[in-house]
Amino acid sequence: MLSVEENERLTRVGPGTPTGELLRRYWMPIATSAEIGSRPVKKRLMCEDLIVFRDGNGKVGVVDRQCAHRRADLSVAICEKSGIRCGYHGWLYSHDGQCIEQPAESRLNPQARIKAYPAEELGGLVFAYMGPKPAPLLPRFDLYVWDNVLRDIGHAMVDCNWLQAMENSVDPHHVQWLHGHLLNYWLSTGGSTEQTRLFTRKNVKIGFDPFEYGIIKRRVLEGRTEVDDDWKIGHPVVFPITLLVGGAGIHQLQIRVPIDDTNTWHIWYNVYRAEGARPAKQTVIPSYEVPLFDAKGERIVDFIDGQDVAVWAGQGPIADRSKEMLASSDVGIVMLRRMHKEQLERIEAGLDPIGTVRDPALNRCIELPIEHNKLGETSMFRAELFKHQAIRHSPIVAEINAMFDAAERSNLVTAK
Ligand code: FES
Ligand SMILES: [Fe+2]
Repeated sequence: MLSVEENERLTRVGPGTPTGELLRRYWMPIATSAEIGSRPVKKRLMCEDLIVFRDGNGKVGVVDRQCAHRRADLSVAICEKSGIRCGYHGWLYSHDGQCIEQPAESRLNPQARIKAYPAEELGGLVFAYMGPKPAPLLPRFDLYVWDNVLRDIGHAMVDCNWLQAMENSVDPHHVQWLHGHLLNYWLSTGGSTEQTRLFTRKNVKIGFDPFEYGIIKRRVLEGRTEVDDDWKIGHPVVFPITLLVGGAGIHQLQIRVPIDDTNTWHIWYNVYRAEGARPAKQTVIPSYEVPLFDAKGERIVDFIDGQDVAVWAGQGPIADRSKEMLASSDVGIVMLRRMHKEQLERIEAGLDPIGTVRDPALNRCIELPIEHNKLGETSMFRAELFKHQAIRHSPIVAEINAMFDAAERSNLVTAK
């Protein structure tokens, strides 16, 4: 349980709030690369209204939504070689927000500038850094930089505070119920004879270990042991907004980007990696919206992520943690909150928070731990994900399956 004040301190993300200032120490995805073409795009990030644009040289920029002159909306603007030009009277801004041309003025006013943030692209996403300078490096996590893989990016807007999703990520017991028994209940009461058995197994043991980027989660399922990958390797929550899950060649970052206090842009960043496969390099990483509501406006809950989103949003726009009753199985949530509070103290003391990367030598490719044999059921796990996970909407499912099938055939041939 948290006091009302503590709950505010850990959840709110606007400028000047404690957690808003903490999250601003991390690079945040603000758009997919594919959606930033030749026109500027409106975005909102941590309660700030912004514009993402691509200049004539292909470099992305992130600036304030409003022009310094008379507050025109810079989504009505022209992307030029050196920056973005307001469509109202032509003031031109460079990437750092400095106004460099005022066509109707005889002399340029050096005071004219707008807010601007450093922006970079990596792995098909555009990231912005909204914190104090010098900016840390944008961490090059393995999923963003691997070669010889296929990628796609699913995304959706979720109608609640980002922290509800993150607390779910350190709560392994929900899997058995929400994605197992509840799904089976819905299937049978909906007239289906189908039942899932992958997610209904009980955790007989769960564990959490802090590591340099966050928390590693571990579990032992009924009938299995600590020798299995689920315990021995586990998978991480990358503080503050990311979960890595996967196995069986499917690797997924679930990134919970705070749009504001009560809206979260959820990204499913998927990387498909088959041993020995050499798929053609993707020039554009396809992105797609994951539907969360049906035509009647009801939440879609026949897949894992729809179930997760339904319970997060059901906790309220910002869950009232002053009314919760934590139990011993919530040990992961307790650890995450402790880590969060420690990071608030670190930045108040002028230190970098956990996971800050400043050494280029360490940033060529940051490998994150992940189980190879997820839940002890490799091929079944892959098939279940394509049926019951956001990736079922991927526009390249056929290509992905073809890559895995070809790799399996060639591995069989090699093994003979
Ligand atoms: S409002 Fe942008 S140039 Fe005038
Ligand atoms: Fe879940």
